[in-house]
Amino acid sequence: MKGLVLSGGKGTRLRPLTYTGAKQLVPVANKPVLFYALEDLVEAGVTEIGIVISPETGEQVKQAAGDGSRFGARFTYLLQAQPLGIAHAIKIAQPFIGADPFILFLGDNFIRGGIVPQVNAFRGQAMDAQIILYEMQDPSSMGVAILNDQGRVQRVVEKPKQFISPYAVIGIYMFSPLVFEAVHAIQPSARGELEITDTIQYLVDKGLNVRAHRLTDAWVDTGRIGDMLEANRLVLDVMSGKNDGSVENSVLEGRVILEQGARVVNSKIRGPAIIGKGTLIENAFVGPYTAIHHDCVVRNCEIEHSIVLDNSRLEDLRARVADSLIGRNAQINHTAGPSQTIRLMLGDFSQVGL
Ligand code: TTP
Repeated sequence: MKGLVLSGGKGTRLRPLTYTGAKQLVPVANKPVLFYALEDLVEAGVTEIGIVISPETGEQVKQAAGDGSRFGARFTYLLQAQPLGIAHAIKIAQPFIGADPFILFLGDNFIRGGIVPQVNAFRGQAMDAQIILYEMQDPSSMGVAILNDQGRVQRVVEKPKQFISPYAVIGIYMFSPLVFEAVHAIQPSARGELEITDTIQYLVDKGLNVRAHRLTDAWVDTGRIGDMLEANRLVLDVMSGKNDGSVENSVLEGRVILEQGARVVNSKIRGPAIIGKGTLIENAFVGPYTAIHHDCVVRNCEIEHSIVLDNSRLEDLRARVADSLIGRNAQINHTAGPSQTIRLMLGDFSQVGL
């Protein structure tokens, strides 16, 4: 069995971060969200993994994930020249997959508890495809599945206008190589993409055995800032405290992880929280569910329930920063001039609440 992880796409919902970086590399508890998918596959015994990348962010993804040896796996990078849809990514991966069954994992999907039970079910029972369903009150922004009495998938509808079922189809799928017939047969949708829902419906219409696994643990599609923060909360909630840094005249409450060389001076950190390698927290308050990545400075300010990417500086802020996602190399400080002018240099689509 092989793995196929999608790490291309446009990432429009996470702009401006995705103008300069791959959304799959945004860290959740200081580790790229993509790495959780790769680790889940390896844990399920899948070590031959193709990673689909885009021309814009592919090099970053390659640099971050490497050849796979660090994960106990072997990675092959597959360039998708344009983001023409999830089913299009399957199409370009055909030479890599060959005649093997495979697991398709969208690189921005986060699933707590891994995929071992689902993969075992797929391995153990004769089926042509398996999708994973997540029960939601309002799944209208997702692909939604209707099952028959035997638990087989009967219909999959993309973003249904009316409520048809509570089961959203999440971004982890298992396929036999029969799926290649489907991705060659389907036509682009109104938005110009080869859709995964059409692919699954094609298999169902052919009378193939498409099964569904209902998920009971947490799952997050990290497409938007609120979802990134939710995934961050889920991971921080189960991490144990650890101190590989130094603490001076400070208070650490609850579970706090200080990575190597992190320094906390005259500050208070209330966990769960993680402070990255080489980061300095000085005269500051860091509140619950905050992840500050490596080589940052947080000085004379308060922050909680936020993710800060590497090499950023937050200094002398008078308002508490909360519910925020702050990109790499960002600088936020308060320079109180005579007229209290605020100086900002922000990318397109940035959002600042003052
Ligand atoms: P999406 O989140 O559906 O699409 P997107 O990345 O373009 O983001 P947005 O909707 O915010 O513009 O993609 C799911 C995953 O699949 C994500 O990790 C990107 C990846 N992907 C590809 O690799 N190739 C593609 O053609 C598409 C559409 C997505």
